[in-house]
Amino acid sequence: MKAFIYEKYGPPETLRMAEVDTPAPNAEEVLVKVLAASVNAADWHVMRGKPLFSRATLGLLRPKHQILGGDVAGQVEAVGSGVTRFQPGDEVYANLLDHGYGGFAEYVSVPMDVMSLKPANLSFEEAAAVPMAAVTALQGLRHHGEPQPTQKVLINGATGGVGSFAVQIAKSYGPEVTAVTSTRNLDLVRSLGADHVVDYTTTDFVGSGRRYDLILDTVGNRSVPDLKRALAEGGKAAVTGFTSVAKLLGVSLRGGKDVAMVQAHVTTKDLELLSELIEAGKVRPQIDRRYPFAEIPAAIAYLEQGHARAKVVVAMA
Ligand SMILES: NC(=O)c1ccc[n+]([C@@H]2O[C@H](COP(=O)([O-])OP(=O)(O)OC[C@H]3O[C@@H](n4cnc5c(N)ncnc54)[C@H](OP(=O)(O)O)[C@@H]3O)[C@@H](O)[C@H]2O)c1
Repeated sequence: MKAFIYEKYGPPETLRMAEVDTPAPNAEEVLVKVLAASVNAADWHVMRGKPLFSRATLGLLRPKHQILGGDVAGQVEAVGSGVTRFQPGDEVYANLLDHGYGGFAEYVSVPMDVMSLKPANLSFEEAAAVPMAAVTALQGLRHHGEPQPTQKVLINGATGGVGSFAVQIAKSYGPEVTAVTSTRNLDLVRSLGADHVVDYTTTDFVGSGRRYDLILDTVGNRSVPDLKRALAEGGKAAVTGFTSVAKLLGVSLRGGKDVAMVQAHVTTKDLELLSELIEAGKVRPQIDRRYPFAEIPAAIAYLEQGHARAKVVVAMA
């Protein structure tokens, strides 16, 4: 099969298309014919082997896993002997970040506990946009308990992959949602359901005087004291974004219970919940750009610039 492989850490040009063996699913896995994939920040972090400490798990000198790609949507081609929930022909979506990646390929073996039937009302490209970003938004928003309709919620980075889902998922719980983004994206976040918008190019949400019961920081560019200043009494923050090792350590070491660093892990249960929200029309993936399979390096390079408007997807055909 064709796959994009990388044998050393580096820029997008490090990736090259190659012929590799089609994976064989084990008893608990499903072989998926990949029809679409999406690009996540994790792909470029892993591609570059950055931050450096991540190489302890990714491979010290060179990448352990040669095929990137976390989010996929496609059709079940074959199932392992222990798989009863899926059968050939099923249309599914999945995320492989906890299982060695491998999505930028024509076929991938997927453990059953990170996949679900794809929402019926989405194309494969739209479905591939969902798993990593939407599950991160969902787990970040629920980290301190389910958002309540009476709460004021702020989403920092509301037009990124994670943020564009976070605004919609937060609204599905009924609270008042404030979205932080730049000038050109104000209309986009309003269209996603935000009640209030803050343009970070002119206004700092920390100094604005408004206080929030829950802050989801999908960017990861604020310090713990900043986040605490913007929290109402008893308020909580969840940080899913990453901008520097210093900020990451700051939140991890000084955040305490109220300001938590959240690492998302995709599960079938959360994908099924997202399928329900999507099929009910409460959440809809927003696609910024579509790239053909052969242009995966360009898709990653675009995302790496840090200003995608929601999701960047890859069509395999
Ligand atoms: N913890 C986890 O499990 C987890 C999971 C997924 C992702 N992440 C991390 O979360 C981060 C975001 O992921 P993503 O997929 O959403 O990335 P992304 O799609 O690349 O995010 C880009 C967005 O960030 C916005 N942005 C940039 N600077 C901003 C600022 N100062 N204030 C507000 N918004 C700003 C941009 O809006 P403008 O164009 O308007 O600037 C753009 O819409 C990444 O660092 C990623 O590694 C963590």
